[in-house]
Amino acid sequence: MDLSGRIESAISRAIAEGQAGAAPPKLAAALDYAVTPGGARIRPTICLNVAMACGDDKPDLADAAATAVELIHCASLVHDDMPCFDNADIRRGKPALHKAYGEPLALLAGDSLIVAGFEVLARAAHHDCQRAIELIRILGQRTGMPYGICAGQGWESEDKIDLSAYHRAKTGALFIAATSMGAVAAGHEAEPWEELGDRIGEAFQVADDLKDALLDAETMGKPAGQDAANGRPSAVAELGVDGAVQRFKDILSGAIASIPSCPGEARLAQMVRMMAERLIPEPASQVAE
Ligand code: IPE
Ligand code: IPE
Ligand code: MG
Ligand code: MG
Repeated sequence: MDLSGRIESAISRAIAEGQAGAAPPKLAAALDYAVTPGGARIRPTICLNVAMACGDDKPDLADAAATAVELIHCASLVHDDMPCFDNADIRRGKPALHKAYGEPLALLAGDSLIVAGFEVLARAAHHDCQRAIELIRILGQRTGMPYGICAGQGWESEDKIDLSAYHRAKTGALFIAATSMGAVAAGHEAEPWEELGDRIGEAFQVADDLKDALLDAETMGKPAGQDAANGRPSAVAELGVDGAVQRFKDILSGAIASIPSCPGEARLAQMVRMMAERLIPEPASQVAE
């Protein structure tokens, strides 16, 4: 099976677990709505690529890690779009979950997906208990406080934002989870892989700021111009479009240089480069030439 097939079928299995038995039908449907069709699936793709670079000796554990990260990501988008956060009406080209199902079910779907992420890892523990516990620890660290996406979203409620802590927690955390969990699933140490996730996360954030400034809502499948509209700090506001593109390229070089030595190092570097090309929006990639 190809990578995307591995990811989609592992995610479907996890969602089906949550819809079994006497599940309330609307909430069960909302789980599906939140995860399929997916977006770019960039985090699980990175997770599996790192696992493969490390030998992927327990593919079921790697699939569980990739699924868990994506479920948390999908949950964060559902909550992020709610009126108490960004109040966004569209996500992935369709009505945001709270628009389709109402706020109570959006809150519960997000909660259920977060819990499901951890359950997936616990269920895969029979493949390797030690590794599974480490995966659960990392996912918790990168989801909650003080280093996870909760912390990242929490910064938006502060009077003074620590920009680097904000971005690192809001966006970087799940990329760090993706690289380090891919490594751990394949029996490697997490720590040497954190820098790669951190740098990809930073590059991703810059690319996201460029998209937010340069693309329209239809192209993105979510509202555009939100950073300026919400007065949020962004790489484009700080450096301009050309400066942000240069920043992206610098971070990317650092990301590739940080890949730890492993059997699939060269292939992984190529994958990171290819992924980066797809991240930069068309109008800015001309600047990048
Ligand atoms: C969007 O993430 C949220 C941010 C962290 C900026 P993605 O752009 O990866 O969203 P999907 O999963 O592809 O829709
Ligand atoms: C996305 O953040 C949600 C989280 C990372 C928790 P943003 O609000 O910056 O991203 P979009 O533009 O809604 O995807
Ligand atoms: Mg937000
Ligand atoms: Mg948002």
